[in-house]
Amino acid sequence: MFAVAASRAASKAEQYAELAEQAEGLLAGERDRIANAANFAALVWHALPAINWCGFYFFDGNELVVGPFQGKPACVRIALGKGVCGTAAATHETQVVRDVHTFPGHIACDVASRSEIVVPLLEGGRLMGVWDVDSPDVARFDEEDRAGMQRLCAIFMESLRG
Ligand code: SME
Repeated sequence: MFAVAASRAASKAEQYAELAEQAEGLLAGERDRIANAANFAALVWHALPAINWCGFYFFDGNELVVGPFQGKPACVRIALGKGVCGTAAATHETQVVRDVHTFPGHIACDVASRSEIVVPLLEGGRLMGVWDVDSPDVARFDEEDRAGMQRLCAIFMESLRG
């Protein structure tokens, strides 16, 4: 149904622009959080090169609990402030980690992961969860990924409002 977002030759900005268009089309007309999260994770998984995990953790009012994802089975619960995900959740700031081995408290769900980006999902300033993407390559994610992932997450959050 959805082809790979763009050829490897396309710039990251172009890849994310195409992916954003695909995400809008894929999520349009559906407001169910699990359904949209599952399709969103599958879309990104098949579109982006050099990733080994992507998915959601949702905030249950106390801690983060794993949601729809692609990749190897993951840790189920993460406390706020713990690891990269818990840091994004506690600070409400996107975390771009060049080398997870140098991140204090990094939680290694998959030992293959070497770099990571985590975007907090906020609803009117309140934490709904985080979007997490791991790569087996050091320094896989940069400022273009930060902007691109934040745009994709905005599309996901918008879809839930209908
Ligand atoms: N590495 C994350 C844990 C989640 S897994 O990557 C799926 C962290 O440090 O929060």
